[in-house]
Amino acid sequence: MTLTTTSFDWVRQLVHRESAIVLQPGKEYLVEARLLPIARRAGLADVSQFVESVRTRPSPDSTRAIVEALTTNETSWFRDGDPFTALTSTVLPSLLAARGPSERLQIWSAACSSGQEAYTIAMLLEDALPSAASRVSITATDISREMVERTRAGRFSQLEVNRGLPAPMLVRHFVRAGTEWEVTPQLRRMVTASECNLAAPLPRMGPFDVVYLRNVLIYFDLPTKQAILRRVRDVMRPDGWLFLGAAETTLGVDDSWERVVVGRSSAYRPSKGK
Ligand SMILES: C[S@@+](CC[C@H](N)C(=O)[O-])C[C@H]1O[C@@H](n2cnc3c(N)ncnc32)[C@H](O)[C@@H]1O
Repeated sequence: MTLTTTSFDWVRQLVHRESAIVLQPGKEYLVEARLLPIARRAGLADVSQFVESVRTRPSPDSTRAIVEALTTNETSWFRDGDPFTALTSTVLPSLLAARGPSERLQIWSAACSSGQEAYTIAMLLEDALPSAASRVSITATDISREMVERTRAGRFSQLEVNRGLPAPMLVRHFVRAGTEWEVTPQLRRMVTASECNLAAPLPRMGPFDVVYLRNVLIYFDLPTKQAILRRVRDVMRPDGWLFLGAAETTLGVDDSWERVVVGRSSAYRPSKGK
């Protein structure tokens, strides 16, 4: 049996309520493909049977499993390149000059997936600004518990390290762990990972000097994007920098940001007086 309209609608509403992710009609194939392995593990023949069983006997574990399965965790090292070049060439030098010598800087990788973005930043700090690295802490968050645990573990498969990680960096910042690669303890100490749903009120955090909020706004509707940008702004320093994904912008969404060009990248800064 293929996914029924009732089952799809139920999943769509659940995922929207829990994560704000929008699953448009037409995404039935995605729901089917992502939930089939869970249905099989539960001993059920198809996704509709699985959805029906969760619908009639909901539990926090099963609803979480559905939401997590419908997050898209695509990521890679140095994804899109330029936002990381901008960090070491412009953003951090200007922030370090503006802060006192003992003041700490805080960077947030929001929607961090399995941690490549946060560890890319940590490696860059170690390599390009070693004297400042001890003053910088990196917070990595994601709605997915599995992704947060993976970020905490700092372990990556050969396939994952092949996606954008330069070989000299692999040698410098990772140790072999069986068939996988593990970030060095030094790098792991720089990154603190925790669960955080961007679509709900944020826990006490920040104030952040730099926020990477990349490739996640695309999954939300306009009111959710607006609410998230407002929340992010509230936990940022007034002279902070926000990086979005290549297909994302604050323009036409929230006019309390100023777009600035940094090298070959764009960043957004809180507008003064807004
Ligand atoms: C495509 S990945 C982007 C990873 C990384 N930022 C990058 O650009 O490579 C999107 C991530 O957003 C997370 N996500 C989706 N909805 C979320 C929400 N409401 N709150 C926090 N994270 C969410 C997913 O779990 C997923 O790991």
